[in-house]
Amino acid sequence: MKTGATDIKPELAIRVQDLSFKWPHGTPVLQSCSLDVPKGEFWMLLGTNGSGKSTLLRLLVGLLQPQSGEMQIRQPVGFVFQNPDHQLVMPTVAADVAFGLVEEKLAPDQIIARVREALTAVNLLDLQRRPIYALSGGQKQRIAIAGAIARRCEVLLLDEPTALLDPDTQLDLVAQVRNLVKSRGLTALWVTHRLDELNYCDGAFLLEQGQVVDRGEPERLKQRLMQAPNIAL
Ligand SMILES: Nc1ncnc2c1ncn2[C@@H]1O[C@H](COP(=O)(O)OP(=O)(O)OP(=O)(O)O)[C@@H](O)[C@H]1O
Ligand SMILES: [Mg+2]
Repeated sequence: MKTGATDIKPELAIRVQDLSFKWPHGTPVLQSCSLDVPKGEFWMLLGTNGSGKSTLLRLLVGLLQPQSGEMQIRQPVGFVFQNPDHQLVMPTVAADVAFGLVEEKLAPDQIIARVREALTAVNLLDLQRRPIYALSGGQKQRIAIAGAIARRCEVLLLDEPTALLDPDTQLDLVAQVRNLVKSRGLTALWVTHRLDELNYCDGAFLLEQGQVVDRGEPERLKQRLMQAPNIAL
């Protein structure tokens, strides 16, 4: 099995080929799943509850191991969870962003510079001394994204990052991620059930029963899903 970023094509950031995964004693979750995400683009992953979206992201970051297939993903990878309270671990904003840099053994002034740069990228430098408990849900998600930017992540995987946000904050976050992808040359794969978010992406995948059954232009997928009310996203 091939994993990691070795010999990935230069135009791609994520390559998944014929990936299959099942839980022990369970039914298959992913069955010959294949998708490519071009480098520097913002793609979304749609599908009904239980179709395997979160499982695919967990496989991509190595939290689960597939039974067969190949995966290649550019490193480092950042992961943003649905609930930021499961992700932010330090008492203040700046400490949390710095926490992700521990393994890099940087000098203190380099850490400060990375944290400032990352918080500036998500427009939250003013809040660097604020306790995490005193942030809104949208601000917490932006701190999680700043953590990935501070680590110089090439790829962002976001699993329903707007599920707990109100509609205005939701669209602010998706617009900000689009801007970050385009201004910093990142690649993002964003799981969602919310069709209005499709307006911000370059392309989307539709997952059904562990396989990609459609992919491509977001507007066409949006129309397909709106005309198929039995596909309850
Ligand atoms: N730890 C686990 N052990 C066994 N089965 C699991 C486990 N986690 C998830 N599953 C099953 O794997 C399948 C795919 O789950 P997954 O979480 O990937 O779906 P999803 O597309 O992310 O759904 P949702 O839209 O509800 O988040 C489901 O049938 C789920 O019940
Ligand atoms: Mg999920």
